[in-house]
Amino acid sequence: MNILAIESSCDETAAAVVRDGRKILSNAVFSQIDLHSVYGGVVPEIASRCHIEKIAPLTRAAIEQSGLSEKDIDAVAVTSAPGLIGALLVGLNYAKGFAYSNGLPLVPVHHLRSHIAANYLCHGDLTPPFLAMVVSGGHSHIVRVRGYTDYELIGMTRDDAAGEAFDKGARTLGLSYPGGVAMDALSKKGDPKAFAFPRVSFKDAPYDFSFSGVKTALINLVHTMRQRGQDFNAADVAASYSDAVTGALCDKFYAAARDFNEKKLVVAGGVCANSMLRQKLYDNLPQGRSLYLPDISLCGDNAAMVGAQGFYEYRAGFVAPLDQNAFATADIRDALCKPKA
Ligand code: KG4
Ligand code: ZN
Repeated sequence: MNILAIESSCDETAAAVVRDGRKILSNAVFSQIDLHSVYGGVVPEIASRCHIEKIAPLTRAAIEQSGLSEKDIDAVAVTSAPGLIGALLVGLNYAKGFAYSNGLPLVPVHHLRSHIAANYLCHGDLTPPFLAMVVSGGHSHIVRVRGYTDYELIGMTRDDAAGEAFDKGARTLGLSYPGGVAMDALSKKGDPKAFAFPRVSFKDAPYDFSFSGVKTALINLVHTMRQRGQDFNAADVAASYSDAVTGALCDKFYAAARDFNEKKLVVAGGVCANSMLRQKLYDNLPQGRSLYLPDISLCGDNAAMVGAQGFYEYRAGFVAPLDQNAFATADIRDALCKPKA
């Protein structure tokens, strides 16, 4: 089954063709970073306008690069939640038009589910059940994936997401947008033990995260040193801060793996590209477990992952009517449409 997939939830316009949920036939991504970087973050209105300009040529390119033609496409999968509502609506409406005009089923896909599914494209042997951690710009979740469309949420962030912590920390250090990538690069030159940053744990919710405290600690540290005219090594600060954020992610994920006796461990989302996090995950992997990470190129937003998850949503009967809406927020456990009878 060949699925055309569309992704426009934030600042990447993307289209891909994926076969049977596992094989990428094409994967076209247009990153809007240059448009937003002068503002230091994503401007929703600019993102929506850019999606409108790019979505049609990108989709044509994705179909052409796949070596197929429109008539070979069997379904259209599209990110429908969560994300920037204006941005989501561009992709959803384009997907509806494509599905309607070609007489194809429309399959709405949850963005976080698709991040997890990026791993199906990289690891042919990976099948649920497994334990997953999704770390992106807006979310930090630990979920038990019981089936391809069946999730149990066991931990999440109480405030900032891990990606947000990296982006805001990077901004405090005066690094370029997008901050996570810049922080990662700078951290490689620093000492992760140079500064002590706080770690938060909750007695009643051991797998929940909180990153607002570590972010505030960074802001206070940097401002105090600047006000005192104190010289400081920004690479040491970045490395110590990254150590605190990635340490919390790795420790809680592996604590959940032990407590729930999960053997297959999957990590996904933009922050999964972080080199310190990947290293920590490999170095601390509990015995008898397998670790699955997506290739770096599939950690961030892309449409191939939407095509992968879309295949399993379709198989489970989640085909939407043409009045399907997009949603800025949506629980990973909830289906985005009713399953077809
Ligand atoms: O999954 P994603 O591409 O988009 C969302 O769904 O949010 O994640 C974007 C987030 C941003 O916060 C970005 O700074 C972060 O992932 N990120 C990184 C790295 N690459 C991207 N954070 C730390 N280290 C990286 N190498
Ligand atoms: Zn994402």
